[in-house]
Amino acid sequence: MSATTITTETITDQPKLTLRPNPLVNEKTALIEETAAKISAGSYKDWRDDLLREGYVVIKGAIPKTKAESYQKDIFNWLESFGTELNIQDKSTWKKENLPAASKISSFTKFSLPHEKFFWNIRQEKGFRDAFAKFWGTDELLVSFDSINVAFPGLKDEENITSRPWPHVDQSPYRNGLACIQGIAALSDAGPKDGSLIVYKNSHKYTEQFFREALDEESWSPRDNVAFTSEQLEWFEKKPDVQKLKVLVEPGDLILWDSRTIHYGAQPEADSDTIRTVAYISYSPANFATEESLAKKKEVFEKWGGTSHWAHDNINPRLERVYLPNGELDPRDKGEPSNKPDLTDDLLKLAGVKSY
Ligand SMILES: [Fe+2]
Repeated sequence: MSATTITTETITDQPKLTLRPNPLVNEKTALIEETAAKISAGSYKDWRDDLLREGYVVIKGAIPKTKAESYQKDIFNWLESFGTELNIQDKSTWKKENLPAASKISSFTKFSLPHEKFFWNIRQEKGFRDAFAKFWGTDELLVSFDSINVAFPGLKDEENITSRPWPHVDQSPYRNGLACIQGIAALSDAGPKDGSLIVYKNSHKYTEQFFREALDEESWSPRDNVAFTSEQLEWFEKKPDVQKLKVLVEPGDLILWDSRTIHYGAQPEADSDTIRTVAYISYSPANFATEESLAKKKEVFEKWGGTSHWAHDNINPRLERVYLPNGELDPRDKGEPSNKPDLTDDLLKLAGVKSY
């Protein structure tokens, strides 16, 4: 054999390309990577195969439609409880100034919304949590303290980044493989003209390749969010199986997607007749969380704050209070939910406050 012949042995013997120290590695990384790799290699003959193959899936009727509609009503009642002219039945009142302060992605997280009783009821719905339990192979789960998105057709909000496409993945280049499954509890219909999730089907298969081959390592960030320019999107669009599509759902459906799948929330078209109403819910195994993350999660919970869409990591506290233009605290911001949840053992375990 000549010295220049490359054999399998010599390739596997090569040290991996040296990257700079991985800022996301912690004592749980190996467990998460091993668990996710095992799940990813499986074959299930159900929706899990679709999720793993295409990067997203819709679980039809995860909860009954009537229940989903009643949650939408709870959310509408909450929106109407701020003493503004907002009347959900009257389109002329669908104005930004009549709504509680929203995030820059048109989601509601302030006024302790992540911990309103109805939001916890949504998180504790068996149909939603069972899907995640089935995927992760355990019912010892943590749940995210994320937001609710309500998008009114025709409501103009040019400051909002969701007024135009904002394709991104929610996973840092420093992670290996599947790390997070995100979820949308659909509480309204999403037809072709309605607001909904846009996904780039199959893109999750190429995200890590893109990071390695097309994204300068200098620009890698530990932040689990990478937005793409239109030129970068073209790299994905050249892949023959990558397909951009709007996910169409009915109330009670659950959308799941891999955080490596390119996605964004699309606003309803002006002539849509549906107020898009969704709750972001994501669950992951409780043993994925470090002690540090659990301590942070407990602290945020005790302050009725929100975090990110991750349940076990990225416990980035959202504790912003709401201030009036004159700088005074908005008296409607009580620092706690208007209707607190029942602090059952089940809820406290999902919140990471009690251990399993
Ligand atoms: Fe996202």
